[in-house]
Amino acid sequence: MRYALISDIHANQPALEAVLASIRRQPDVAAVYHLGDLVGYGPWPNETVKLIQELAISGVAGNYDSTVGTDYKHCGCRYEDPVQEELSHASYSWTRRHVSPETKAFLAGLPFRIDLLPHGGHTAGPRLVLVHASPTLNTLYWTEDRDDAFCLKMASLAGMKAGDAIAFGHTHIPWHRETGGIHFLNTGSVGRPKDGDRRAGYVLLDVNGREIRAETIRVSYDVERTMRGIRDSGLPELLADYLDTGGRLRSRNSAASI
Ligand SMILES: [Fe+2]
Repeated sequence: MRYALISDIHANQPALEAVLASIRRQPDVAAVYHLGDLVGYGPWPNETVKLIQELAISGVAGNYDSTVGTDYKHCGCRYEDPVQEELSHASYSWTRRHVSPETKAFLAGLPFRIDLLPHGGHTAGPRLVLVHASPTLNTLYWTEDRDDAFCLKMASLAGMKAGDAIAFGHTHIPWHRETGGIHFLNTGSVGRPKDGDRRAGYVLLDVNGREIRAETIRVSYDVERTMRGIRDSGLPELLADYLDTGGRLRSRNSAASI
């Protein structure tokens, strides 16, 4: 069974379209799932949600989705300095003002977690758990430097066992490791990468018997089109520069995180 996992699209329609085109070229993809943060920071929240709906791509609620959907006071994003904080608030305010009632209702209705059993629910496993950030909160930053004890605690909280896998995004930096027989997989970001590579990212996950294999794919897209879209929309200019540098803007200026 082969799945395509896409996360953190962040209203970047050109990046999403490029990733979907890449997935269509991959053989034997049984289903596509998204891991949340459909909106925020980018200029096309309604168009992004409409495309996800039209293609019937199931997925979970990112922090941006659930905070916009429930009128929360902030987006649940992390910021490390006053510039980041200002950008984060500007993006959140813009997104809340521009989502349609239909988009907002869709975001509010997304589930927190999806479980897949590729070999059917009549067998013991393996189980594939899909969340935005962690099994407990969709705002927690599960970065690669978290130790094995942290990963295994999360797996335990999610009711997982050896042979299972958990996939998540939120940090916008992909990583994968196997600990205690459990696969921990951050799928990176479609529309707002932070690892210095401005290409869109997604993951192909193959489950074959007890073997689980993940491949991170990067896709070039028309970044300049999204940068123009940001500038034309009234979103902060720095958000466009952030995409241009693959999230490494901090060395030159500063920019909102996640
Ligand atoms: Fe995100």
